Amino acid sequence: MKVVTGIDQMQMVAEKARCAGKKIGFVPTMGYLHEGHLNLIRRARQLSQLVVVSIFVNPTQFGPQEDYQSYPGDLTRDTRLSQQAGCDILFVPSVEEMYPKGYCSYIEVKGLTQVLCGASRPGHFRGVATVVTMLFNIVKPHLAVFGQKDAQQAIVIRRMIRDLKQNLEIVVVPTVREHDGLAMSSRNEYLTPQERAEAPVLFRALEWAGSQISAGERSAKNLIQGMTRMIEAGERAEIDYISIVDAAQLRSLEQLDGDVLIALAVTFGRARLIDNLLIRV
Ligand code: PAF
Repeated sequence: MKVVTGIDQMQMVAEKARCAGKKIGFVPTMGYLHEGHLNLIRRARQLSQLVVVSIFVNPTQFGPQEDYQSYPGDLTRDTRLSQQAGCDILFVPSVEEMYPKGYCSYIEVKGLTQVLCGASRPGHFRGVATVVTMLFNIVKPHLAVFGQKDAQQAIVIRRMIRDLKQNLEIVVVPTVREHDGLAMSSRNEYLTPQERAEAPVLFRALEWAGSQISAGERSAKNLIQGMTRMIEAGERAEIDYISIVDAAQLRSLEQLDGDVLIALAVTFGRARLIDNLLIRV
């Protein structure tokens, strides 16, 4: 595996691979890799001949009060893990090269980014769409792999590539969970032992909603009330949102019908955790 830090060099490697007829699979990350990321890399490995993983903690997707400065990182460990998972090129650009002085171009995906996480993290998806486009322009992938845990992110990126005619495929891989159901996330690192013990309630609440739907429940209000009760029974959870939306337009539903996304964001101390359930009703 090769570590590349320069944008020019990464572009040259990508051009060369494309000229040689290799299919490039790309996994963008912010590092501090866990089993969820490794699963994305393994999927890219199955689907492509050159696997590129980027590690870049993107300043433009963090709000002023968020954890950009303290976002966890361990490049030595990430290098080892990504190689073991099948990465060929680890691309680690600098903030200075990605956003040089005077940088002023941004991508907005309207509508889809104003709800769910976009409502409580204004500007977040503008930062994501911008950096992902920059990374696509540098790495020139045929396909890019994202996790279902960030369901809204995957939906926004799919819409962006469709609207902007970016010529690649988006592959979405199921969420990887700890033994007790907690979705893997670099931010789980922030949980105290007490918060960690409480956090699996998010998955239990989603599972409960899934079982209610299987038993015939169709009222979004009833499901949200039940999930809220379960999560608020703990001492440390602060609900940001629990929403039930249609999985294409992310519009709130009263009655469940079609492809439905049940999404939530809950804060435990320093950790803002998200999770979701995608279900066809
Ligand atoms: O999902 C993430 O880790 C980030 O949002 C991404 C896609 C790497 C963009 O910075």
